[in-house]
Amino acid sequence: MAGEGEDEQQEQGKGSHLVLLPLPFQGHINPMLQLANLLHSKGFSITIIHPQLNSPNPSDYPNLNFEIIPDGFSEPQRTGIKIIELLSAVNTNCEAPLRECLARLQAANPLNPISCLITDAILYSTQTIAEDLGLPRIVLRTSSPFSFLAFAMYSHLKAKGYLPIQDHRSEISVVELPPLRVKDLPGYPNTDVNAHSQFFEKIVNTTRSATAVILNSSDHLERAILPELHREFPIPIFFVGPLCKSSSSVSSNRLSENEQSCLDWLDKQESRSVLYVSFGSVTEMEEADLAETAWGLANSEQPFLWVIRPGLVTGSERTWPHLPEGFAEKTKGKGWVVKWAPQQKVLVHPAVGGFWTHAGWNSTLEGICSGVPMICWPRNGDQTVNARLVSCSWKVGLQLEGDRLERGEIEKGLRKLMADKEGEEMRERARVLKETAELCVIKGGSSYVAMNKLVNHILSL
Ligand code: UDX
Repeated sequence: MAGEGEDEQQEQGKGSHLVLLPLPFQGHINPMLQLANLLHSKGFSITIIHPQLNSPNPSDYPNLNFEIIPDGFSEPQRTGIKIIELLSAVNTNCEAPLRECLARLQAANPLNPISCLITDAILYSTQTIAEDLGLPRIVLRTSSPFSFLAFAMYSHLKAKGYLPIQDHRSEISVVELPPLRVKDLPGYPNTDVNAHSQFFEKIVNTTRSATAVILNSSDHLERAILPELHREFPIPIFFVGPLCKSSSSVSSNRLSENEQSCLDWLDKQESRSVLYVSFGSVTEMEEADLAETAWGLANSEQPFLWVIRPGLVTGSERTWPHLPEGFAEKTKGKGWVVKWAPQQKVLVHPAVGGFWTHAGWNSTLEGICSGVPMICWPRNGDQTVNARLVSCSWKVGLQLEGDRLERGEIEKGLRKLMADKEGEEMRERARVLKETAELCVIKGGSSYVAMNKLVNHILSL
């Protein structure tokens, strides 16, 4: 029976020591900490080993033990570097400190040895470390399962001629992965197809060698690809998400101060009137796109709350960009701009009626769990895949196509989302999807049951 044996699990889990290793970026740290909280509530003792980069404040997580390891990065070394090179460097730089830390933890706790490592899928170097130390490794894939499937099929899609993406073929449907078009396949800027292939292969192959994979989604959201996922990853798969819903919230305030001011401002706005605009924690945009965004927002005349992170504009070296002259006057009383927002609180605020997002997986799930329709402008990685799911599979939003933004297109899209009948229909589907997500994580729901199975799997290792 669903939920059966929960209390027993709490007892069983007690004393069993798990080590969790997040990739040190906000979109990966948040779901790993959410999983850590859930596993702690099941009675496990949890140690998080975290590189110095973006390390959370341990005092925010009194239930978790933290070990911070050196990562060998200085600030100039990580700016301007291509994403795949940066992620590869995290793997290489952390390997020796990680081995040393794990050996130290093992030696310090002979009566409570580490029973299992749970690591981000992108930390592929941890598979060899786990094997060398005789520790089972479970993978957490924090981004969308559909994009993970595309990673796994990348070489096949390359052999079929879909890749590299060529402009004149970018609209072609990828029949192996509906509803994706060639241009929706995952990838990073300024990186060739072979570098992508090698990087994705490392992640996928080391996941296949793990004892299980945990996915931050629900089998309901992913039901269209379940058979393919099981084919590509013939190990136990646990859909325990959306973690933002099933776990207690984590504070994502390490990159900047949370801004309470925006919640106070939202309190003064009419119900469902505000568009929340945020492009996540790492995505960048050109200065010209920032200006088009500003004028698109202003011309749409929709109230908005806009997160402009220092460093959002490419090459701005973490400074705060200048907004176009006249924008502040034109939007006076209608808009609020912050450097960072308590996003999950913002999205569930009754004044918020729409979410303009880059479609990072956490933002996408947080949008779904808040029941707000979305307008997506994906930039890279898994975001193109997620945006396609939002607009074509779940139909809870629309997508701004193309690499560059244009104020007229933005204005049209925003009006459609916030004021037209089409937007109303998306809002209704978003409401239903939210309810479904809630059903997955409550007692007896599929993700709730999967979490209990995961506990049993860990205890059986
Ligand atoms: C990255 C990738 O870009 C994304 O595609 C991938 O799915 C995960 O890793 P990021 O771009 O930061 O993540 O986006 P996202 O996954 O949406 O995560 C951002 C997190 O920061 C969310 O949990 C969001 O709630 C939080 N956030 C963002 C805030 O709390 N406040 C903000 O102002 C902006």
